This record gives sequence, structure tokens and C-alpha cells, in this order.
Amino acid sequence: MKKINLGIFFGGKSAEHEISLISAKNIIDIIDKNKYNIFPIGINKNNEFSFYGGDHYILDSHDAKKVHLSKSGKPITFSLRNNREFIGVLDKKLKIKLDVAFPVLHGSFGEDGTIQGIFEVAGLPYVGADVLGSVIGMNKDIAKKILEGSGIKMAKFLVFDAANKDKINFSDIASKLKCPFFIKPTNSGSSVGVYKIKSKNDFDKRIKNIFKLSSKIMCEEAVVGKEIECSVLGNEKPIASLPGEVISHHEFYSYEAKYLDENGAQLIIPADLSNGLIKKIQETSINVFKLLRCKGMARVDGFVNKNNDYIFNEINTIPGFTSISMYPKLWEASGLDPAKLIDRLIQLALE
Ligand SMILES: Nc1ncnc2c1ncn2[C@@H]1O[C@H](COP(=O)(O)OP(=O)(O)O)[C@@H](O)[C@H]1O
Ligand SMILES: [Mg+2]
Repeated sequence: MKKINLGIFFGGKSAEHEISLISAKNIIDIIDKNKYNIFPIGINKNNEFSFYGGDHYILDSHDAKKVHLSKSGKPITFSLRNNREFIGVLDKKLKIKLDVAFPVLHGSFGEDGTIQGIFEVAGLPYVGADVLGSVIGMNKDIAKKILEGSGIKMAKFLVFDAANKDKINFSDIASKLKCPFFIKPTNSGSSVGVYKIKSKNDFDKRIKNIFKLSSKIMCEEAVVGKEIECSVLGNEKPIASLPGEVISHHEFYSYEAKYLDENGAQLIIPADLSNGLIKKIQETSINVFKLLRCKGMARVDGFVNKNNDYIFNEINTIPGFTSISMYPKLWEASGLDPAKLIDRLIQLALE
């Protein structure tokens, strides 16, 4: 059988550059090299693409604080004339013709439909959600509005635009959502800009900065309960893994708890829930995946509240893929090992 030329894209200009590098390294390490020719393509923080020939493309990959792209890559750009081709910027003889792309990128320019647009223009099949699903998944406001009326439970929310910044009133929000409530940018990730607001002082302090991250913000009722994540896989007939639980050792699952504090959070895989709840979470996650027009993969995140109701929170169309990440770990717990999972994702892209 002919080997498949697989481009793995990592890094990029987003707050999640580092975690992307660690995820990509993990995928490259475990993928079946008898089946795939790997073309590692690193993207630096200026969004410049480079091809890496040797092994040493990601350095200090065991340390989330130090991990970085090596400078040994050859600058490339994608060619509009030739389908599926990337060409050298300086070395015109460098031509990379891919069969399929795996964007192991998170956040802006990676998970938001923009690089998916490049792949579409290049005629290149790619892993994960297409442009539409990526745009929807990245945008908490649009995603929740699509799900309104579907019967899927969500925390009450209000959305504000930077243009009407002066009219935002703390006591108004507190009377509608109760205090404490959460504020977050509508289109970010990794808990960047997410705050639990407990007082007017808190609110005034955060509101100024949060609009620097996003032109729209969401205020959301705080859900008290367990934080639950579920992995979904497939195109037309997606399937769901067993759910997992995140127990944060910080006030909530903040950026620090996720990446900086080694003991910031504990993952319970699978989550200790009744069979009825597990089924409900799996069905809802598949439903969310379909309604939000996802393909390939997504991790659907939510809560189980005090009344044992499942409350949807957000969807991640390119979830973390490190050796300890929830997405692959949940599949492993559900009987699909990481190498087979990656293989399945690529097959779904080629379909
Ligand atoms: N409505 C909420 N109720 C309780 N906790 C919340 C709520 N919204 C966010 N959080 C906490 O903040 C974290 C990050 O928020 P989330 O909406 O998942 O944004 P991100 O896309 O940055 O991960 C969540 O994992 C959770 O711990
Ligand atoms: Mg989240």
C-alpha cells in the first residue's frame, strides 16, 4: 500500500502555541510510520510556516514553560497553483505535496476556521471540523445561540459588545445572573480572560482588560457541580467516549490550573457517574457535535450540577493531544488506543 503523505501543523500565533507543540510531538511520536510519511510543519508566533526535515523540530518538549520551535526549519508557503502543495520560500526546489493535513493547533488561526480556509484553497483534506464548524466552535456566543431551543441545558448568559461598553451595569448583571458570575471573551480558549466575579470592584477591574482580548464578552451564571468532558469522534455518525471529570485545585479550571501548576488539576478517567448520567452526557455531546456542525473530532465540555443535570459549557474542535490530555485519554479508557485514534482521525479526514 502506498504511504500517505501527512502534514502535521503545529505552533502558531495563539496563546496556546506551547501546548500545540507538545501535542504535535506526542502525535508524531506515536503515529504509525509504516503507514504515513510525516511532514512536520511548524508555525512560529508570527504565523510564518517552516518545514522540518530532521528530528529536532520541537525542543524542551517536556517542559510546558520552556518548549519551543527549533530554528532549523526551512521557510515554506502554500502554493495556490498546485493542489495540495507547499513550496520553499527561499529554496524553490523544496516542494511538499501532501495527501492530508493534521492541524494540531489551538485557538486563533488554528482552531477558528482560518487555517482550515487555507487547506480548502489548497484542495487539501484535513483532520477535524471544516471552516464552518471551526468558526462556530470557537465562538461561545454563536455556539450557545445555535443550541438555544434544542433542549440542551446551558448556564444563563448575557453578551456585551465593546461598542456598548459604557452601558454595562454590574448590578443589572448581578440581578439577572446572581453573584458570583463568570465573565469570559466569546472567542478565546485555555481560560485566558476567564474570571469569576464576586463584587463590583472585581467587575470594574476585569471589564477594562477583557475587552482588549475580544470585542465581545459573555457574562455567565456560575454552575456549581462537577466539571465533565466527553470526547466525540466521527463524521456523519459520531460516537462518544466515556466522560471524564476535571477536579481543579484552584478556584476554577484557570490557565494556571491547566498549564502552569503541576498539581493544578486532577483528571478522573472515566468520571465516577451513574450509568444513566453517562448515557445522558454521551447523547448530549453527540447532539452538540452535530448541531454545531463538527466533523472528525471535538471535546464537549460541561458540568453536572447539584441536581444531577448535565449543563453544556463549550466545545473544543482541536482539543489538547498531549500524552496526558483528556481527549486521547478518554478514548483510551473507552478501548481505542492513541495510535489507532490518530489513524481513525486521518481516515475520517480522507473520507
Ligand atoms: N458558567 C460557569 N460556571 C462555572 N465555572 C465556569 C463557568 N464558565 C467557565 N467556568 C470555569 O472556567 C473554565 C474556563 O472556561 P471555559 O468556558 O471553558 O473557557 P475556555 O475556552 O477558555 O476553556 C472552565 O473550565 C470552568 O472551570
Ligand atoms: Mg474550557
